[in-house]
Amino acid sequence: MTTQNSNKLLDNQISSVSPPAPGELSPENREVPAAYPKSAEIFSHNRRFIPGGVVSVNRAVQPEIAFVKGQGAHVWDADGNQYIDYHAAFAPHFLGHNDPHVTDAVISVLRKGDSLYGSGTTELEGRLAELICRNIPTVESVQFLNTGSEATYQAIRLARAVTHRDHIVVMQGGYNGWHDDVSCNLMTPLDVIGLRVSPGEYPYIPISAGIPFEHQKLVHPVNFNDLDSVESVCQKYSIAALITEPILQNIGIIKPEAGYLEGLRRLADRYGFILIFDEVKTGFRHAIGGYAKIAGVTPDLVVFGKAMANGYPIAALGGKKELMEWFVHPDPAQRVLLAGTYNAHPVPTVAAIATIERLLMEDGEVYRHVERLGQQMQKGLEAIFRVLGFEAVVARQGSAFCIYFMDHCPKDWHDLAGHHDFGFDEQLRRGLIKGGIYFFPIAAKQCSISSAHSEEDIEVTLGQIRNQLSEMLR
Ligand SMILES: Cc1ncc(COP(=O)(O)O)c(C=O)c1O
Repeated sequence: MTTQNSNKLLDNQISSVSPPAPGELSPENREVPAAYPKSAEIFSHNRRFIPGGVVSVNRAVQPEIAFVKGQGAHVWDADGNQYIDYHAAFAPHFLGHNDPHVTDAVISVLRKGDSLYGSGTTELEGRLAELICRNIPTVESVQFLNTGSEATYQAIRLARAVTHRDHIVVMQGGYNGWHDDVSCNLMTPLDVIGLRVSPGEYPYIPISAGIPFEHQKLVHPVNFNDLDSVESVCQKYSIAALITEPILQNIGIIKPEAGYLEGLRRLADRYGFILIFDEVKTGFRHAIGGYAKIAGVTPDLVVFGKAMANGYPIAALGGKKELMEWFVHPDPAQRVLLAGTYNAHPVPTVAAIATIERLLMEDGEVYRHVERLGQQMQKGLEAIFRVLGFEAVVARQGSAFCIYFMDHCPKDWHDLAGHHDFGFDEQLRRGLIKGGIYFFPIAAKQCSISSAHSEEDIEVTLGQIRNQLSEMLR
């Protein structure tokens, strides 16, 4: 285990190639200020009052653009530039920005005079809970929180309470939020984690300062797609929980190999740990029941967020009733505290109801639509790579995709970090932004298509990618 939190590492979480420490940009990365003068003004104003000028460090990227409007598949910046958006605010906007169905529901709940009461239950939270439990059979009971991080925190705490164990397993290359258990080992540079370890674990490499060393000893990062490593950790420690995204979607799209998720289920049953699927990114985007539904594997607990309310702040933690009942355990010493002033606030709650109702319409037509667009994007990209003679692959699940400049789809972080051309990827993304296509300008970040995208949007995007790559070749 390592105690250090190297700055190099922290920078590399933000950008693996040319890391901008928030507020301190190296000259070669600095955009010519004249390119986005109004954005520059907003950043400069905000830096006077907000450290680094942004309220989530993950949003501190180059070029510095302040957005002012989002509608459907498009966003506009303060300088009047329009973009086809594939960032989708880190993926929640599955129906596109300001989906009219969701917006109308939000306006009507406010007009009706609904408020946050903070005492007792509400009809709305019951409606949302029923909608989720009826449509996701593996969720027998559910609780609501405001963010994905809160929900993964509570899932892990619940698992520890139920098993009376402290250790947990996380994935190298996974992201499950900002709290102490999980803010570690994301895009860890290879010179920091060293050679591939299998079977076995990597040192806990924090992505934040301030995480107690004693706590770090409880967390065991292993490779994704590596059952032997999970088993070896289970033989060494009493594991309370394993938490994983079923597809690693914070380092692009890294899919589980055949049998991997089933294998995790078997190991959970054999070693008695709680299997937690973090479906904050995959849930509702790939299917109402998340990727677990597609894979046919049942976790003990599951966490949803993001696409669940199409951009409004709400998350859900659900699963087996016998586990969820620990939140109201009759013995106060065993009870798990779940509390939150804003839990199930009427605005995000009604947004979630409207989003899920919309996803259920026409027998899931939204999913068929985004799959068609995803295929169009993938085929178009593959044709461009063939014609231009690029070594590149497209990893995709439905509406979510990532281009890797390497000869195969990676199976874990080590594979990706060792083969992907991060510099080239970042150069492409920055070039696309200049051409009105917003791919988040950090290499290996997932791109998200929404149901508001059209075939024409995809064609325009492919044209820009073709132009940009041809230029980069020159
Ligand atoms: C898979 C996953 N889990 C958890 C989180 C944390 O969610 P939030 O940012 O809402 O706290 C994220 C955020 O990106 C995520 O992608």
